[in-house]
Amino acid sequence: MGWPVMHSRSPMIHNHLLAKHGLAGAYVPLAIKPDQLAGALRGLAPLGFAGCNITIPHKQQALAIVGEVDQVARRIGAISCVIVRPDGSLAGTNNDCFGFIENLVQRQPAWRADTGPAVVIGAGGGARAIVYALAERGARAIRLVNRTGARAETLAREFGSPVTAIPWDDRHRALEGAALLVNTTSQGMIGQPPLELALDTLPAGAIVADIVYTPLDTPLLAAARRRGNPTVDGLGMLLHQVRPAWKAWFGIDPEITADLRAKVEATL
Ligand SMILES: NC(=O)c1ccc[n+]([C@@H]2O[C@H](COP(=O)([O-])OP(=O)(O)OC[C@H]3O[C@@H](n4cnc5c(N)ncnc54)[C@H](OP(=O)(O)O)[C@@H]3O)[C@@H](O)[C@H]2O)c1
Repeated sequence: MGWPVMHSRSPMIHNHLLAKHGLAGAYVPLAIKPDQLAGALRGLAPLGFAGCNITIPHKQQALAIVGEVDQVARRIGAISCVIVRPDGSLAGTNNDCFGFIENLVQRQPAWRADTGPAVVIGAGGGARAIVYALAERGARAIRLVNRTGARAETLAREFGSPVTAIPWDDRHRALEGAALLVNTTSQGMIGQPPLELALDTLPAGAIVADIVYTPLDTPLLAAARRRGNPTVDGLGMLLHQVRPAWKAWFGIDPEITADLRAKVEATL
């Protein structure tokens, strides 16, 4: 469920897996207006859904609608996945953090959360999951930079140490000595301007990750690669969050194969 949602690659991913595992069913994009979200979620059980994913702009609102929210989603303050229980009740969880870390570790196996400061650009739903994930993995310093400073400050207060909010105008300098840089803003997405960030002070060994995956090679990733930084694109995050969702919906841990990635990549 999202608004808009037709751009989502999730139906392609899940329908590929449904066919592969011989499950009768379909994953459909549900374009739901924000004021219809409660009704749409309540319709899942009577319509026979096992669950659904939740995307922009519903992640925070959906948390308040489902009956049960696990600890991870509660800490993050947003849900990305709904599970319909056998009694028809709804449970919410957040798989964005799992997808992000799983992808990061797979693409950059040497990465350790406590190697050095992480810089996270953005303070929206995606940023909340990533800050949570990095803190859980033992990051000692997370520099959080957002265009709207108050939003970064709220998030920093909520998560406490190790998160520090840094003013937008200081974002270039915030890269000094960083071991990881993550863009969680919508900047660099198709139809949006590139993220305005000068990488000059970023150490050459720092990993640069973008959670935007349309395009796969964002201007930020291209600039980072040109100066020799290792990079991680956003598609893997989307692919890996399928695993906990399927475990909850069907009791299956599906393999995220190179074939599946290539199939999705071909559409980007
Ligand atoms: N790969 C994945 O699996 C995955 C998962 C989740 C999200 N995403 C992607 O991540 C992106 C953000 O999603 P979200 O859910 O976090 O969205 P969101 O909650 O709406 O947050 C958007 C963020 O972008 C910032 N932003 C917007 N316009 C900006 C501008 N002109 N200059 C600087 N910053 C700007 C916002 O800053 P303000 O607070 O100042 O408005 C905010 O921090 C989307 O492209 C989404 O598709 C990918």
